[in-house]
Amino acid sequence: MENINSLEDRFHHQIDNEVKIEARDWMPDAYRKTLIRQISQHAHSEIVGMLPEGNWITRAPSLKRKLALLAKVQDEAGHGLYLYSAAETLGIEREEMLNQLHSGKAKYSSIFNYPTLSWADIGAIGWLVDGAAIMNQVPLCRCSYGPYARAMVRVCKEESFHQRQGYEILLTLCKGSIEQKEMAQDALNRWWWPSLMMFGPNDDASPNSAQSMKWKIKRFTNDELRQRFVEMTVPQAAILGITIPDPLLKYNQETGHYDFGPIDWEEFNQVVAGNGPCNKERLEARIKAHDDGAWVREAASAYAEKQKNKKEKSVA
Ligand SMILES: [Fe+2]
Ligand SMILES: [Fe+2]
Repeated sequence: MENINSLEDRFHHQIDNEVKIEARDWMPDAYRKTLIRQISQHAHSEIVGMLPEGNWITRAPSLKRKLALLAKVQDEAGHGLYLYSAAETLGIEREEMLNQLHSGKAKYSSIFNYPTLSWADIGAIGWLVDGAAIMNQVPLCRCSYGPYARAMVRVCKEESFHQRQGYEILLTLCKGSIEQKEMAQDALNRWWWPSLMMFGPNDDASPNSAQSMKWKIKRFTNDELRQRFVEMTVPQAAILGITIPDPLLKYNQETGHYDFGPIDWEEFNQVVAGNGPCNKERLEARIKAHDDGAWVREAASAYAEKQKNKKEKSVA
């Protein structure tokens, strides 16, 4: 049997040379645990993230909008499924992950604990939340863990449709009546800061980040990604003709980047701790959806069992 040293050497050699780590490869326990935590939280975020938008499917203002939103929400369900599958390759069962989510023990992105009050919120979510997701997820296509990286390739293609879908909703509203433009502004006012929080704590308050960078799970720090997001979004807000709710947001001639105001980390911590405006409601809706879907899981396993018996019979 190979000893741990040589296994560990091989692991580091793979990481250093950009050779993907696969499910069958030896990996340090901490690497496996970090990935299980990150991928399962990511999967939960996709699944819970369907809820605030799902609320608007029946209220979309036209058939075309309804189709696009329906397709987007279904994509998010798919993202959740790829990600649960990717996490399962690391040795955790999907049921266990769902139990963690439903018991309130697992984390998911703080952003999905805010309410969707108007149709413009659907635009703002696509533009900002999916926009932030793209910033986060494009570098994950180069993540050192193969199954996660490969899942991200397809996810990112779909996210870019989501982002356009949202931006186009806002563009239409901003070209519409005064009231419609006000709706868009109000949505930006409410979604801007939570979107910046999506990138997670500042680098100096994010102790696991450095290790994840070394393992090439992460390629950029939280603050780097947040900065990129601001750079991308400011000109898009200008095209819409609405104002980012940050009086300190300003182009810095010296650095060539935008400076922006301080984030309310107390709010972030409260939402992450389960005290956001909709945490309770989201979890209840999620558990109800799971319970309501029990008959589908039962039917699927009964069908699989039947097929298996048929096959065994025909072999015998
Ligand atoms: Fe997604
Ligand atoms: Fe998305």
